[in-house]
Amino acid sequence: MARIGLLTGGGDCPGLNAVIRAVVRKGINAYGHEFVGFKYGWAGVLKADVIPLTHETTRGILHRGGTILGTSRTNVFKEEDGLERVQASLRDLELDALIPIGGEDTLGVAGKLSEAGVPVVGVPKTIDNDLAGTDFTFGFQTAVQIATDAIDRLHTTAESHNRVIVVEVMGRHAGWIAAYSGLAGGADVVLVPERPFDIEDVCERLRRRHAQGRNFSIVVVAEGATPKDGGLMSEFETTDSFGHVRLGGIAIQLEREIEARTGFESRMTILGHVQRGGTPLAYDRVLGSRFGVEAIDAASEGDYGKMVALRGTDVVRVPLAEALAEPKLLDPKMWETAEVFFG
Ligand code: F6P
Repeated sequence: MARIGLLTGGGDCPGLNAVIRAVVRKGINAYGHEFVGFKYGWAGVLKADVIPLTHETTRGILHRGGTILGTSRTNVFKEEDGLERVQASLRDLELDALIPIGGEDTLGVAGKLSEAGVPVVGVPKTIDNDLAGTDFTFGFQTAVQIATDAIDRLHTTAESHNRVIVVEVMGRHAGWIAAYSGLAGGADVVLVPERPFDIEDVCERLRRRHAQGRNFSIVVVAEGATPKDGGLMSEFETTDSFGHVRLGGIAIQLEREIEARTGFESRMTILGHVQRGGTPLAYDRVLGSRFGVEAIDAASEGDYGKMVALRGTDVVRVPLAEALAEPKLLDPKMWETAEVFFG
């Protein structure tokens, strides 16, 4: 029997509650563990702010979006005496291990804590699917489905009005959501962070398509896509505690440029946080549950410093450091396939 703390950090993501439920369910039934949940990510760990996680408090949450624990982008290592405060919380709450569920930032903190001797097992989360070490993160499939549904709807209005519609999807470092939803939604142009674009090329592709008798087009752009001759485009200047610029707004500039250069009437839509909200698809509930079960097995065996991961169809454990080395960019083979259908 052990006492274990869970937390969810970074942006929320469909499937977080499935992970929490799975960890607690197997942890109590198979190992007789006790659990607490830290509120609002690392912020709750720093303050030792917890709620009990039991069968009762984790019942009926599988299908719910968001996270019952709340989340934040607090960075332990930006806070005064951060490491010492984390260690003190674990001591005061008599915890044997921590299971942080998060993306590059949350697990980055977990990696540093692990190096300092804190027993952690990480669970990979992000709708962006850009975390190395795992083939997929939970939440990604739900985000792709939401974006695809939106593209389907935008298609009919674009067609009715003979317009170019630019759809901005999430994807800070990598264009996974853009490529998958662009392929699934039949987009005509897809722009991703991995391939800086030339605005004149984009316009030329649209002109060619319209010269062939089509009078509307759909452009899908990842929020982190950049023009060849410029950096990140954002309507905001603020950064978070991990130093990331708040993204959003490249679609506004694309709409203007496309209309000015081609004369095609254009409109843009920024999908934003709608991609992260609401109920998870079955795929993400299942993947989250599988990750949760593997994470509690690892913690129970004392196999710390690991992250659970999907490799092919298997759920495995990889060193946290491996997952944190570099963001996982779009697979070139996947891009090549998707590109067959663009333009
Ligand atoms: O990290 C996932 C992500 O969805 C990014 O694509 C996006 O830039 C970011 O979260 C926005 O999150 P928030 O507005 O909650 O800080």
